Amino acid sequence: MLDRRFVCESIVEQTDPPVLISEADIQQRVLELAEQISADYADCDQLVLVGVLKGSFIFLADLSRALSIPRTIEFIAVSSYETGSVSSGAVRLIMDVRGNIENKHVLIVEDIVDTGHTLKYLLRIIHSHGPASVRTCTLLHKAECAEVDVDVDYIGFNIGDEWVVGYGLDYAERDRTLPYIGVITPDDR
Ligand code: PRP
Repeated sequence: MLDRRFVCESIVEQTDPPVLISEADIQQRVLELAEQISADYADCDQLVLVGVLKGSFIFLADLSRALSIPRTIEFIAVSSYETGSVSSGAVRLIMDVRGNIENKHVLIVEDIVDTGHTLKYLLRIIHSHGPASVRTCTLLHKAECAEVDVDVDYIGFNIGDEWVVGYGLDYAERDRTLPYIGVITPDDR
């Protein structure tokens, strides 16, 4: 008879992507970013964090709870990768922010900046709402893949040209809830 525990562990080993950034390293870096952002916005009575759906939802949840300054949360939803691993370059707005961000200090929170098309598009949308200021924060940055010039104010980790999943990031909706950042080879590469 098969040992069920052995079978389950074998399946997990086969299906979980290799670790690029561990859960502990992510949590440590999130605390550091939160400390930096809290210091930079110490004189600000209300910072609006705009999480970019879907990928930033876990990073935003951890980062926002680690801040020591007053903050509110908004979401915006865009998509450019659809189901594959190659950016279409054409970013689609799926859902704009719901609250009024006019004259408020805004921090856009992304999971990853790759080609930069999404963040550039987001900056245009957010600026159109007339905020007092706009800065950008991303957990992961692929500087070598940049196709457009866009400033990122807070970066968690710089990574190479690898397809990463976990901690909010997906490949065709898979692996978003992994607690760490893993590396995969997409089928279309
Ligand atoms: C991912 C990610 C960023 C964007 C970055 O979104 O969340 O928003 O790609 O890529 P870029 O710098 O090349 O534009 P995706 O379109 O995969 O949607 P998702 O967050 O819903 O998974």
